[in-house]
Order: sequence, then structure tokens, then C-alpha cells
Amino acid sequence: MAFPPAFLDELVARNPIEEVVSQYVNLRRSGANLFGLCPFHGEKTASFSVSPDKGMFYCFGCHKGGGVINFLMEIENLSYPDAVRALAQRAGMTVPEDEQYQSRYRQQERLWALCKEAARYYHTQLYAPAGAAGLAYAQKRGMTKSILTKFGVGFAPDSWSGLVDAMRAKGYTDQELTAAGLVSEKNGRVYDRFRNRLMFPIIDVRGNLIGFGGRVMDDSTPKYLNSPETLIFNKRKNLFALNLAKKSKLGYLILVEGYMDAVSLHQYGFDCAVASLGTALTEDHATLLTRYTEEVILIYDADEAGQDATRRAIPILERAGLRVKVLKVKDAKDPDEFLKKFGADRFRVLLEGASNRIEYQLTTIAKKYDLREDDQRIRFVQEAAELISTLGSAVQREIYGGRAAEAAGITADAMKLEVEKAWRRRRAREKKRQERIDLAPAQALRPKDRSIRYDNMKSAMAEEMLICLMMKDPPLSDVTGDLTEADFSVPLLGRVFAQLKSRHDQGLELSLGVLEGLTPEETSHLAGALQRNQGPAREEAARDCAAVIREENRQEKDGSEESLLALRDRMKQRKGVKS
Ligand code: UTP
Ligand code: MN
Repeated sequence: MAFPPAFLDELVARNPIEEVVSQYVNLRRSGANLFGLCPFHGEKTASFSVSPDKGMFYCFGCHKGGGVINFLMEIENLSYPDAVRALAQRAGMTVPEDEQYQSRYRQQERLWALCKEAARYYHTQLYAPAGAAGLAYAQKRGMTKSILTKFGVGFAPDSWSGLVDAMRAKGYTDQELTAAGLVSEKNGRVYDRFRNRLMFPIIDVRGNLIGFGGRVMDDSTPKYLNSPETLIFNKRKNLFALNLAKKSKLGYLILVEGYMDAVSLHQYGFDCAVASLGTALTEDHATLLTRYTEEVILIYDADEAGQDATRRAIPILERAGLRVKVLKVKDAKDPDEFLKKFGADRFRVLLEGASNRIEYQLTTIAKKYDLREDDQRIRFVQEAAELISTLGSAVQREIYGGRAAEAAGITADAMKLEVEKAWRRRRAREKKRQERIDLAPAQALRPKDRSIRYDNMKSAMAEEMLICLMMKDPPLSDVTGDLTEADFSVPLLGRVFAQLKSRHDQGLELSLGVLEGLTPEETSHLAGALQRNQGPAREEAARDCAAVIREENRQEKDGSEESLLALRDRMKQRKGVKS
């Protein structure tokens, strides 16, 4: 659906991109721009830039870019109209829209509100007579009143309609209760999904209540019942307690498996703990974590399943650019049990000794081989050398190399040679890759997205530049004369030109942020072009560009006429030969 252009202008003006992005990315000023770690791909150095004056963001690493609306669409996974609505709400503006149209964002807002009401209901029940068993269980598990309040823990009474009745009384429909995943349906009737369970609300990083995990109070199964996937609840994209942990001053995040582990850690002062929601760690989780920290300490359960999960989680976190440490609790099955048995001080000692992923991985590799067998020892040495060669510091390589040598029963020097060999192999591979990138500057100018084609490079460059000049200095739109969309060799750039021109004629803003009807790839591509074309906005430059576009377009047309003529000639000749 289209929004009035003047409304979009105001919306973009009232949502400065640096402010909106700052809610998600730590930005540092450098000259006219701000830089931070890209929230869309894992990285260790800041290649994500925000230009307040251009109203755009661009990542030099993954080449994503766009205006403030595109940013919100990407980061919150919203459709265009929903991103517009969210920004309107942020700026306190009313969206001019058809009342019939129930937007996804409106629906989400309604479900967030419903879940919050439900959490209030469960929390009240915990202290009501119907919740006595729940409160007793929470206390038995060592939860204090203040931690129950902090997490908003509640109790779902042993009833088929407690929640349904309470929410209907608040004006929520059965259809909404279903959409929020709070009820089950049978024969067209809804009944409470969570019954006789201790309820843990799940809150996303923006503070919206999106779902629940409910624990039984005995040994029955399933131990935890979670909200199903809904419009607002996605297990693969959210982490329990991250809404609290993101405010921690500890400087790292602790990732655990269980709700109870996270709650206990917070209770014992480790306010940086988060837990996954009963699923394996995903790339989305890892990217989410990079928004708030550079270092993650993994403390999964001590059992085989927990250690398997640790091995799988390490590369996912590292690929996102996080530093990973691993800790295994001893004499307890999980962090919750450890804290209760040994206390916070002992846990702190354990944390300080948390091994880095190299130690952990070396142990893991060693376990794969029987080091009494010669051939297996050789394979161990090779694999260990490969791992150690990834370390940036010579001291580290020496220390861990020494350890691996000891395990394999070879000399430290022999191990060092292996590591150097592996290191040289890696360097050669990386150098080759870099060369391929460096040697292909023209390639780098070509659109990353294959649906955007630059067949006539000369014209395309002029088209790019003209559009950038117009956005920098809108009055330059007037010097383009009779140039039209049809003169452009790249359809995307032609379309953008037409939009800019028509906006300028109506006296509206020209910027990346206000363009409509573009795919994320197209927007990113334009952001990249704006980034490349940094020169001053001079009138001659705009005139030159327009002239090049016109000229190239004319030649192209002549060219096609010429070849048509040539074709006709050939046809004639052939006929001549035959007859
Ligand atoms: P755990 O069984 O380790 O749970 O499962 P826990 O949080 O440590 O709970 P306590 O201490 O036994 O009370 C780890 C996580 O796996 C998910 C939950 O997110 C749980 O916190 N899980 C587990 C489920 O979703 N469903 C289940 O039936 C069990
Ligand atoms: Mn556990």
C-alpha cells in the first residue's frame, strides 16, 4: 500500500537514521559519519556506516544499505508498511490509512498487549490461593521474591478456563487468544494451554512480551511447555533474559541451556546470562548476541547432550565474530545446580578459569583419536596443528602447540614445524583470495545482485552518478533537461530517476530514505552507489552525466539499427546465392 509522499517525508525527517540505528548498534562518530559493527553480518571491525546527512546506512562488508525505513525492515524483519507504522509510532505520528486494513504491525501490537495481560494474570495467580502450590515450588527451587518479580514469573492455575475468562473480560477475542498461542482449541472451543505450571515470560530485546515457557512441578512430561510459533514468537530469533542481560555491565554474555540456569545466574549476581528457548543455537541467535557483546561464555549442561550442543554452538558463535569461552561445571549437572551447591564465589572462580575455545577444542580433538596408535597420533597432530595455526599470536601458538605436543608425545619443535606448515598453507590460501578481490576492481563495481545488470558500464556509471548528484543537491534535477527514464540503460536507475524527478517537481525531499517500491537488494545497491560517488555536487557534473546517458542511449539505438541493416544485407546476399 502506498503512503502519501509528504507523510513519508515527515516520517523520515522525524526519525533521524542515527537515532534509530543507535537503538541496535553501538555507533562511534568519525568525521561526518558514524561507524559500528554491522548488525546484519558477523564482523570484528566496524564496517557499518551511517551518514546522518544522507539519511542512509551502508555496510562496506556485506553491502547492505538503505534509508531508515529499510533499516527497520531488515533488522526487525518487517514489511514496508509495518516498518513505516513502527516509525510513525516512534515519532508520535498518525498513519493515514484505510481503517479496514488490519496491518500486521497492529496485530502484533495487539498480541504483545495480550501476552502482557496474560503475564500479569499469571503473576497475580502466583500469590493467590490457587497458586499456593506454584509459589511453594518456586521457593523450593530457591527463587527469591525479588527474582520472581524481576522475571515476572507466574503461575497458571490448574484450570481449563482461568486465563480464557480473564482475557475475555479484558476484551480479547478467542481468535486473538489462539493467535497468541495461549489457548488450545477443541470442537470449536478454546481452553487454557498452560495449566498447573510455573510460568516464565519470554520478553524480546525491545521489551515486548512474546511468549511463555511453563514448567511442571513434578516429574511429568513435557517438563516445559512453550508457546507455539506465532506472529510474535520465534524461538530461533529470540533468547530468554536477553532483555535484562543486554543492560549488564559485566562486558560479556553467558549463554546457558535452561530457563532455570538463566534465572539462577541472575539471582546470584551474574546478570549477563541468557538461555536459548529449547532449540539449538541458530545463526540468528549469534547475530543477535553480537549486538550486545563481543564475548560469549558458553556454559551448557555437563551431560553428553550438553557437550554435543557446545561443540555445535562454538563455530556458529565464532562465525558471527564473537570471542568464545567454554566452561564445564564440575560436580553439578548445570549452572543452576552448581550455584545452589557451591555458591557465587566458587562460580566466579570457575568463570575466571573458563578456557578459551582452543583449549576446549584441543581436548575435543584429542578425544577423537587413540593416541597410543602411531597413525592416529599423526592425524591428531595434523588436526591440532590446523587448529593452532588459526591463532593470531605467536605466544598463543607456542603455548597450545606445546600442549598438543605433550599430548601426542612428540617434541615441541616437531609440533612447531607442523603448525608453521599449516600456517603457511592457510596464509597462501588467504593471499590468493585477497588477490582475487584486489585484481577485480571493475568486478567490484558491478552490482552484487544479479537481477541488476550493468551491460553498458559507461552509461551505468553516469546514471549512478547523476542520481547521486540529484540526491545531494535536488535543484540539479533541473539541469537534466529532456532526459527521461527511457534513456537509462539500467532500468532500476531509470525508475529511481523518474521518482526523484517527480518528487522534485512536487517540492518533496530527495533521499534514499523516501524512495518507494524498491527491493532490499535494489536499495542496498543504491546505497553502495551513493557511497562510491562522494564528490561535490557541481552543475557541470550533472550536465556531463546527462549528456553521456543521452549519447550512449543514441549509440545503442543506432547500433541496433546498424545490426538490423547488416542482417538485412546478409539475408539479401543469401537469397542472391540461392537464386
Ligand atoms: P532442562 O531440562 O535442562 O531445563 O532443559 P532447566 O531449565 O535446567 O530446568 P530444571 O532446572 O530442570 O527445572 C533445558 C531447556 O530446554 C527447554 C527449556 O527451554 C529448558 O529450559 N526444554 C526442556 C523444553 O523446551 N521442553 C522440555 O520438555 C524440556
Ligand atoms: Mn538444566
